[in-house]
Order: sequence, then structure tokens, then C-alpha cells
Amino acid sequence: MNNLNNGDLKNIVRDSYKKIVTSQPKMGCCAGGNSKNVGYCGEDISKSIGYSNEDMDAVPKNSNLGLGCGNPQLIANICEGETVLDLGSGAGFDCFLASKKVGENGLVIGVDMTAEMLSQARNNAINNNYSNVDFRLGEIENLPVADNAVDVIISNCVINLSPNKQRVYDETYRVLKNGGRLAISDIVLMKGLTEEMKKNEKLYCG
Ligand SMILES: C[S@@+](CC[C@H](N)C(=O)[O-])C[C@H]1O[C@@H](n2cnc3c(N)ncnc32)[C@H](O)[C@@H]1O
Repeated sequence: MNNLNNGDLKNIVRDSYKKIVTSQPKMGCCAGGNSKNVGYCGEDISKSIGYSNEDMDAVPKNSNLGLGCGNPQLIANICEGETVLDLGSGAGFDCFLASKKVGENGLVIGVDMTAEMLSQARNNAINNNYSNVDFRLGEIENLPVADNAVDVIISNCVINLSPNKQRVYDETYRVLKNGGRLAISDIVLMKGLTEEMKKNEKLYCG
């Protein structure tokens, strides 16, 4: 994978998440597991990373694909009336949870670069009458969001996928209001990767 440029890496990531969302629910991770609700893939994973049953019952079922690696909202302290931005919003799980917290005077913006993910998120919003959630197609390195517009940024297991993390943080700084907050759940390396691991495209997304 050493010879791949940033654009190649983005295409690998995009293809990977396109496959995940377009193969739902057949490839659901609960299929064959012990969940009664086959196709609701995120349930077991979400419970193990800090979401409650109430959280999962409160959002459209196929917004939660079990792709997170923690719960950024546990530290985000989202309040009524705030504008929240979710970096890499997937099918919308965290956006729909935040939507209830900000209420009708607030706004939740979800940004994702995979058109098929965005489409599922938008369908979830339309079919379930969410009027304060806006899903935007775009890259977290070039956010389709105005300067100084956001109170809280959340992100769940996405920044690790970016080939230009500094650019992501520069963009978060640009769009956050003065005193704004950033709550990230993500994976971190505890030790170096082997050369073999670094060249493995599947591991990059997995
Ligand atoms: C691991 S999934 C997490 C989805 C969501 N946060 C959740 O917890 O369900 C990663 C998501 O980030 C999106 N993504 C990855 N890199 C991105 C980038 N550079 N810009 C925008 N979206 C990106 C992918 O399309 C995918 O939907």
C-alpha cells in the first residue's frame, strides 16, 4: 500500500463503506449471531461500546451499522439549541441521537464522502421526519460547512481513516465557534504496525 497516494486511499475507504451499506441487511453482522433482530447490525456492537438500549430504540434501526468504536456523545455534553457536526456520519446513527438532544431549535450536520452511506442517512431522516438534521456529501478534510458555525463536533471511528489528519484538525478549528467543543471516539495505535500490516488494504478499513 506504500505506493498509494491519498486519493487512492480515499477510494479504497469509499469502496469499502459502499460495500458495507449496499450489502445490508444480507451481510448483517447479526446474521448468524444471537440477535433476534437480524439486519439490525449495530446492536450488539453498540452495547459493547457505550450506547444504551434507549439510545438504540430512539433512532431508525438501519442507521446503526455497528461501525463505531466508542460513544463520543458521552463526553460531548450536547445541549438544546446547539449546532452539532458529525465527521463521517455513516448511515446517521450519532446524528439522530444528537438531533433529539439539540431539539427543534438546534441543527445537526452529518458529513460523509460515501454517496451510498449519505443516501441511506437521508432516507432515514425523510422516512422518520427528522427536520433538524442535514446530511452533506463531502470530505472531512474539506468540510462543506461555514467558518465559525458549529458548537460541537463529534466523530466516531473516522479520523483514523483519513490520510491527512492535520488537515482534518485544521478544518475542525475553522468551523468551530470560539469555545466550541470536539468529542472524538477513535482507534489509536499502542505500538507500531509491521510493514506487512501497513500494506494490507483490508486492515486499513477494518
Ligand atoms: C467506520 S465508519 C463510521 C460511521 C459512523 N460514524 C458510525 O459510527 O456509524 C466510517 C465512515 O466515515 C466515512 N469516511 C471515511 N473517511 C472519510 C473522509 N475522509 N471524509 C468523509 N467521510 C469519510 C466513510 O464513508 C464511513 O461512512
